[in-house]
Amino acid sequence: MIIAIDGPAGSGKSTVAKAVACRLGLRYLDTGAMYRSVAVAALARGIALDDEDALAHIAEKEHISFEHTEGRSQPSRVFLGAEDVTAAIRAPEADVAVSAVSRLFKVREVMVAKQREYVRGQSIVAEGRDIGTVVFPDADIKVFLTASPEERARRRAAERSYDAGSGTDPDAAPARQAETLAALLCRDHADSTREVSPLTAADDAVVIDTTSMSTEEVAERVVGLVGEVGGAVAGDVGCGAMSGRPFDEGC
Ligand code: DC
Repeated sequence: MIIAIDGPAGSGKSTVAKAVACRLGLRYLDTGAMYRSVAVAALARGIALDDEDALAHIAEKEHISFEHTEGRSQPSRVFLGAEDVTAAIRAPEADVAVSAVSRLFKVREVMVAKQREYVRGQSIVAEGRDIGTVVFPDADIKVFLTASPEERARRRAAERSYDAGSGTDPDAAPARQAETLAALLCRDHADSTREVSPLTAADDAVVIDTTSMSTEEVAERVVGLVGEVGGAVAGDVGCGAMSGRPFDEGC
């Protein structure tokens, strides 16, 4: 059973994917973390972010792995070779570099192959921007999450203030929202018009507008879809400690 969750930045993909994986006892595959790992490797080696061949070479050669605490759906650490890159892939430099890296066709080719290899017959909840359209076009369940740009910007601003240590203080968020909204609209445009794997819902995806839904409501809906297709899920991992971040999808 493969459950593919796609959607634009701030739509809640990661949060929902983690919640669904946790409820069904399945592993969660964070494909964004894989692209981020390649970006971190490129930065560390001083490789130009438009050097497609060199970056594809890194993507091919470097082993990207996830460490799962026994019995947990969420990976606790991400490794690039032997190096723990869990924190580095979320750094602002990686945020910027990953956009350039994930645009490159040859890099995507390698990543898609690795993502398929990672799954290899196991049941999984996978999340990204091309999971239902390119990586797993035969996924049992395809979900495309959307939300209004304003709501996505609000979530993103809340995440950023949470990460900056100011918690989810509603007073801290509005100041960032205009800036966040502009960046998000720009990102939407880049993601949906890029030549390689543009962000789009698969024809057979169930589109869920999460604008006024909680994570739990969306996860419930997705879990309900598993029942509707008569899917048998024999998950054997547990939830572990879920992140406290609200709608914590990284961009
Ligand atoms: O989901 P995220 O923010 O961690 O993704 C990081 C970057 O990688 C982002 O620019 C989108 C891109 N990405 C992609 O192009 N395809 C995927 N399957 C996953 C992420």
